[in-house]
Amino acid sequence: MKQVIGIIGACGRIGSSLTEQLLIDGYKIILVDINKNKLLKLKKNFNSANLEILCLDLTKTKNIDKFIKFGLKKFKKINAVVDCSYPQSAGWGIKFENLKENFLKEDLFNQLGSKIILCQKLIKYFLKVKEGNLILLSSIMGVQSPKFELYYKTKMTSPIEYSAVKSGIISVTKYLSKYYKNKNIRINCISPGGIKDNQPKLFQKKYRNACNLKGLLDGQDVSNLILFLLSDKAKYITGQNLIIDDGWTS
Ligand SMILES: NC(=O)c1ccc[n+]([C@@H]2O[C@H](COP(=O)([O-])OP(=O)(O)OC[C@H]3O[C@@H](n4cnc5c(N)ncnc54)[C@H](O)[C@@H]3O)[C@@H](O)[C@H]2O)c1
Repeated sequence: MKQVIGIIGACGRIGSSLTEQLLIDGYKIILVDINKNKLLKLKKNFNSANLEILCLDLTKTKNIDKFIKFGLKKFKKINAVVDCSYPQSAGWGIKFENLKENFLKEDLFNQLGSKIILCQKLIKYFLKVKEGNLILLSSIMGVQSPKFELYYKTKMTSPIEYSAVKSGIISVTKYLSKYYKNKNIRINCISPGGIKDNQPKLFQKKYRNACNLKGLLDGQDVSNLILFLLSDKAKYITGQNLIIDDGWTS
């Protein structure tokens, strides 16, 4: 039987591209997102018996159990989970000088703390069924400092908490893969470069110059790498952070 994959944050740039590719490859998928309208739209567009949707806020611990229960009810098992969710506070993206403690706390918990709890709950299930595959999303910002010169003359920035969270995701990945040694559970994360999404032309041009061949990526460039990690071809890859950034960090 084809594998069952849970995608959290399924309606976003990476999640929706992954959804499309997994369906083409015959996987069964459970799409979780906080955005009900977008979930319904995806369900309608793909119109597949291999796809189930669930509207939940997965930063809330009780909802993680609901997600696992739902997956088991619909498809009897969950082989792998990819977390592409990107919860952001109302103060997300403001400059370092203006950072507010309440927003900082919220973002650190929702983007890192709640994901540690997510791992805890999912791994508990994986241990029970004696197999599992977990893929988290870090970023080039978790690997290297931002190239601030790329934002010059734009309103864009890369928040300090994003760098902290994303390097945290890499640490959590490495920690857990060792903690659950010999348990047949793979845990990896990927660090994509920027994805094209109506950024100012000036930024796009400068970003392109910091890369090798393409510059900003498409969602599909990233989901191709996730597909590889989900496959048996990556059976012995665990505890890794795989960078896909067209050479931005090189
Ligand atoms: N887009 C990029 O350029 C880029 C680059 C590197 C890394 N990443 C990382 O990849 C991941 C996905 O990025 P993206 O661009 O696809 O994000 P996105 O903003 O396009 O999508 C995120 C999805 O998460 C959902 N979501 C938000 N809060 C949620 C919650 N509490 N529970 C469930 N779902 C929730 C949103 O509704 C949205 O559909 C993020 O971790 C991001 O940091 C993105």
